[in-house]
Amino acid sequence: MKRSLGVCYYPEHWPEAVWAEDAARMAEAGLTWVRIGEFAWSRMEPEPGRFEFDWLDRAIETLGAAGLKVVLGTPTATPPRWVLDRHPDMLALDADGHPRGFGSRRHYCFSHPGYREECAKIVTSLGERYGRNPHVAAWQIDNEYGCHNTTLSYSASALAGFRDWLAQKYQSPQALNRAWGNVFWSMEYTSFDQIGLPNLTVTEPNPAQVMDFRRFASDEVAAFNRVQVEVLRRFTDAPLIHNYMGGETGFDHFNLGADLDVASWDSYPLGSLSDHLTTDATHRHRFLRQGDPDMQAFHHDLYRAVGRGRWWVMEQQPGPVNWAAWNPAPLPGMARLWAWEAFAHGAETVSYFRWRQAPFAQEQMHAGLLRPDSAPAPALAEAAQVARELAEMEDLGEVGCAPGEVALVYDYASAWAWKTQPQGRDFEYFPLMLDVYRGLRRLGFNIDIVPPTTRDLSGYRMVLAPGLATLPDDLRTALAGFDGIAILGPRSNCKTAEFAIPVPLPPALPGLDCTVARVESLPPVSVVPLDGGGVFRHWREELEGTADVLMRAVDGVPALMATGGVWYLGGWPDQIALDRVLRRASTAAGLTAEDLPDGLRRRDTVTHRIWLNYSPETICYGDVEVPGCGVVFEPRPGAMPAGTPDTKERK
Ligand code: GAL
Repeated sequence: MKRSLGVCYYPEHWPEAVWAEDAARMAEAGLTWVRIGEFAWSRMEPEPGRFEFDWLDRAIETLGAAGLKVVLGTPTATPPRWVLDRHPDMLALDADGHPRGFGSRRHYCFSHPGYREECAKIVTSLGERYGRNPHVAAWQIDNEYGCHNTTLSYSASALAGFRDWLAQKYQSPQALNRAWGNVFWSMEYTSFDQIGLPNLTVTEPNPAQVMDFRRFASDEVAAFNRVQVEVLRRFTDAPLIHNYMGGETGFDHFNLGADLDVASWDSYPLGSLSDHLTTDATHRHRFLRQGDPDMQAFHHDLYRAVGRGRWWVMEQQPGPVNWAAWNPAPLPGMARLWAWEAFAHGAETVSYFRWRQAPFAQEQMHAGLLRPDSAPAPALAEAAQVARELAEMEDLGEVGCAPGEVALVYDYASAWAWKTQPQGRDFEYFPLMLDVYRGLRRLGFNIDIVPPTTRDLSGYRMVLAPGLATLPDDLRTALAGFDGIAILGPRSNCKTAEFAIPVPLPPALPGLDCTVARVESLPPVSVVPLDGGGVFRHWREELEGTADVLMRAVDGVPALMATGGVWYLGGWPDQIALDRVLRRASTAAGLTAEDLPDGLRRRDTVTHRIWLNYSPETICYGDVEVPGCGVVFEPRPGAMPAGTPDTKERK
């Protein structure tokens, strides 16, 4: 598979007279793919059943004639006004019961049957017309499911769907009452029709109900997507893709991704540093124009797993975005570095968003590869440089990333569990996972993110499953046969499938006599210092039992307990404490841990070791010297056949 670059383009935004020149310039820059169409429903079907595809025919032909391959988007993230007029109840309702109205995008409820039918119709028309078009080489379904907080809807359609889903799951109201513990506060039901959605209650709703509602909502996103998959499979053999988001945990991406051929995600390193990461001010300042050194890599590893090895970056930030609290410009070199980080992690394609900055509407302040006056914006030259490098470095252009030594279990249901019952305001799954990932990456490891359904851990030396609310049976079996170091906790295996506290008490891991006797959550300034350095913050557990105590808090309570290769960590460690845990575990697992300087990261491909420097200064580490915002390619130790030319240092 040849690695390639692409760009997102909106022919409907520009006079037809410029399409050919745009296409020629894309090809000249070395781009291979162009994604179009995903918001153009009002131009494809201006009125119900009146299709206008001539313009799209010409756009695809023009792009194809320039040698570009088209990713055709289905436009279902932006239903035009007439769709709403036909289905006034298709809007999602927020938790306060307010409709999420027309005038931007994603104004639909996943559960609305009429809207699903409208989607099937437009996608059928697109499939019939372009399914065998030689230039349409991939499809994107919808756009960023869950974006703008749209997974959960409290509409009448959602209520009907939820009742049906519950009836199928529990078969009888009595079984549901038992599973949810509805004897508490006299919440028992005698019929599924009595059950409401978990909003507008006087105080918090039953967490078991909330969890089921989140599971239902996740299934609805997958079911909505499946409607389009089934239509498109009738007309095309081209890969079907969705562009997921960073930090989005509202639905189970592994589940939805199983219906698709390739996973992709939209990477906005500066926007996400500004908006999503709860890191300290110094860190934000240091990486303001480069992005967090681990955020992109984390998602690359995640979406490689969601795509079962096949994944893209569908949208890559090229310059300042418009949507974050503050929108700085990237430092020179970063639009190139971000692309190489993706290729280092096995991306097939990196596609910049967008070709030309639009001078109108919501995203007029969002940079593109071209300015609104069509002059090149700074990222264009960097994209062209990456394209040249890909062409020159044949082997890097062909092969994927090396398998990881370390696996990190990532579970969407655990993200829902800790949203449903955080117990401390700042206990969230995603930041916990990113912290652990960061700690591992600082040590220089190649990391694979794996789903909780994983059955085979045999390739790994170390496996971590922090915050995994419920340990699935398959993973329990895989861990039992695992001969490396497995670290669970904090808050792992502490809920039953029904969202109750299990007895025997957690973590209840085979062969490990360790019990979580009590838990506490901690406000931001309060920490639990550990003997030997580092602290627990946000969350600490008091552990007891006869397993070996590897670390203690200064108050004497065990903080890390182990028997053989099964370890349990009783708190949310800061980076110092985490570093201690991970170094000790690495040694026990027979792995060599590095000590990468702040900002320097690396990832191995099958053939190369790629160094990426997120800091503005040159970093020397061992015998490698990596320029600020630069990338260095080395042969991967032990992987290159003798005599292979060294492709070092290309900044
Ligand atoms: C993405 C979205 C694009 C565009 C972009 C701006 O979330 O998929 O359509 O809005 O953000 O950064």
